[in-house]
Amino acid sequence: MSIHIAQQTGVITLHTARTSYQMWADEQGVLHHLYYGPSVGNADLRDTEFRSDCGFSPNPGELHLQRDYSLDTLCQEYTGCGVGDFRVSCLNVQNPDGSIAADLRFAGAEVLPGKYALPGLPAAFDNGGECETLRVTLRDDVTGLTVTLLYGVYEQADVITRAALLQNGGSGVIRLRKAASACLDLPFGEWELLHFHGRHCMERQPERAPLPHGVQVIGSGRGASSHHHNPFVILAEPHATETAGGCLGAMLVYSGSFRIEMEVSQLHSTRLVAGLGDETFCWTLAPGETFAAPEVLFSYSSDGLGELSRQYQRFLRDNLIRSVWKNRPRPILINNWEATYMNFDGETIYHIARQARELGVELMVLDDGWFGRRDDDTSGLGDWQVNEKKLGCTLAELIERIRGLGMDFGLWVEPEMVCPGTALYAAHPDWALSIPGRTPAMGRSQLVLDMGRPEVVDYLYETLSALLRENHISYVKWDMNRNMTDVFSRALPADRQGEAAHRYMLGVYALLERLTSEFPDILWEGCSGGGGRFDAGMLHYFPQIWCSDDTDAIQRLKIQYGTSFGYPISAVGSHVSAAPNHQTGRTAPLNTRAVVAMAGTFGYELDLQLLSESEKQDIRRQIAVCKQVQPLVLQGRYDRLTDAMTDTYFTAWQLTAPDAAAALVSVVVVDPKPNPWSIHLRCRGLAPDGLYKNSLTGHVATGSALMAAGLTLPMQTGDYPATQIWLERVD
Ligand code: GLA
Repeated sequence: MSIHIAQQTGVITLHTARTSYQMWADEQGVLHHLYYGPSVGNADLRDTEFRSDCGFSPNPGELHLQRDYSLDTLCQEYTGCGVGDFRVSCLNVQNPDGSIAADLRFAGAEVLPGKYALPGLPAAFDNGGECETLRVTLRDDVTGLTVTLLYGVYEQADVITRAALLQNGGSGVIRLRKAASACLDLPFGEWELLHFHGRHCMERQPERAPLPHGVQVIGSGRGASSHHHNPFVILAEPHATETAGGCLGAMLVYSGSFRIEMEVSQLHSTRLVAGLGDETFCWTLAPGETFAAPEVLFSYSSDGLGELSRQYQRFLRDNLIRSVWKNRPRPILINNWEATYMNFDGETIYHIARQARELGVELMVLDDGWFGRRDDDTSGLGDWQVNEKKLGCTLAELIERIRGLGMDFGLWVEPEMVCPGTALYAAHPDWALSIPGRTPAMGRSQLVLDMGRPEVVDYLYETLSALLRENHISYVKWDMNRNMTDVFSRALPADRQGEAAHRYMLGVYALLERLTSEFPDILWEGCSGGGGRFDAGMLHYFPQIWCSDDTDAIQRLKIQYGTSFGYPISAVGSHVSAAPNHQTGRTAPLNTRAVVAMAGTFGYELDLQLLSESEKQDIRRQIAVCKQVQPLVLQGRYDRLTDAMTDTYFTAWQLTAPDAAAALVSVVVVDPKPNPWSIHLRCRGLAPDGLYKNSLTGHVATGSALMAAGLTLPMQTGDYPATQIWLERVD
């Protein structure tokens, strides 16, 4: 049993293989958080709690003489608001009488087999017997607001999921201005925040700094999880490294605006509150209604950041991504975007496919520009009718020609958008988010559809499902190329406009649920101008996401490095593109571009006509290597061997088979040196007693020697040379 409720004391302990999590409701019904960290068995940790009569920290009215009892200093599982805790709170609730207050007290706990589900939201699942659920009910007796805290305890995965259901059990309307998913109060310790910031073409750059006193917020108000901040943070002990030290992660399973707040309090405890929404969020909860706050995945590792990342990578692969493709080798694809942009016809696409097929490519992806009037990015989105004039044939004909080459066919769509000037916009101008009387801000000359309207979701479902039914499409790239402004739904009354952004996400999820359930064999790839929605919410539906619009291999080293902290390598869309690179103008060798793209779902995105015969020969070789690497990408162990942000000489990573029978070490020199010092690496995750043959030198060494003494590479000069070293077990 992974959930233990002590009969006498009511102390609740959640057990995973290597961690414990403990809470306890006191006589007042306040639910204390006692512990999250390395396993402590069923030890009762109540006496580790620190109580102090702290000036200006109020005491609950009924306990006013008990000066050391304050909601402002206690560690709690989920906070109310307005009744004595001045730290960041989980809730901001306006009650029918106008008061902004919630005082939550324990009303019961039960243990259920399996994993809870969340209505309308993506969430982790149980493959059978992996998870137990704890349901804790908290209530505000004055208003009848009930908060159900859900905990999914995945024992073997060392993951605890959390979510919250807020139900209006009173008789008047309640307005939720903030409804967090979870709070994690860490009573002790110094913590550093590791988070992943960025911008378009430069996503998920890790940044690590000690948490200062006060509140630090990581979030997005863009209506998408965003390129700019990822809904995943790590709190690490100051000394934590890749291989040692305590660290814990919080990952939101949500793709819209979010907030993760961290506060170091006056008494040096640290509070983390995570959930959906931004400052504009306001949800009307009528009597009897329930609001579901999205899931957060917590995981703790005592063995450093590498192990924490692997815990997340495994968990997302096994318990979050639903696609049948998650463990299947992905077809090697060619995408025409950087080869042609929107300047193509059917013949060009067929030609690209034919050349690619000769080199061993398996899937032709037709990107933007095949529909409506769409020859540049100023028009056309919304009119999902095939532009047969441009293609010179029907889509079905083009697909059949390409399939005749022995290739599969994939298509790009951007369903959540509309361009003014389209037939869709002319028919339904009110379907776009815009504020009456204001000219809406444009992003890439497009507007955002109001996905919160069921008729918009139905229309897109009908349009896209017809396209998928009528054509032999094996892969879909689902894009989303602007953030939300003018967030106003013509379908909602004035006092419910604060719901529009979350209703949008619920609409997107409803559409994805319908389409991915109806077309489960399609390989769906998420995208938002590259990695602008690279999050666990999207991964529930899409087994892979285009990682960045920056295809420069040297920049990708950092982007893919940052992404690997929380997300599986098998989810990282990564392509070999042209040199000089279209985003940075940099020229990196073809081999280096391939080595970097092999740390993800591999493909090509360049004009093959411009390649020499010897480069084409290289591509044939790369595809053969990629086939060997794929099983490691899909199910192997991933180790970051260097820090891509600070190690300026070279970047290295290792993929290891689950049984450690083989490993692939990849090294890219980013700044070659004269009279260089050696490129020396210590491997990880090998079988200590196993004998491994080095593909570069032929030398055989034990796993323990390779992990302790390491391996040394010959000197590397030139522009960005890359090396792959296979270590095959030979004993
Ligand atoms: C986004 C994607 C690109 C490409 C273009 C097409 O930017 O990230 O890969 O599909 O849209 O407009």
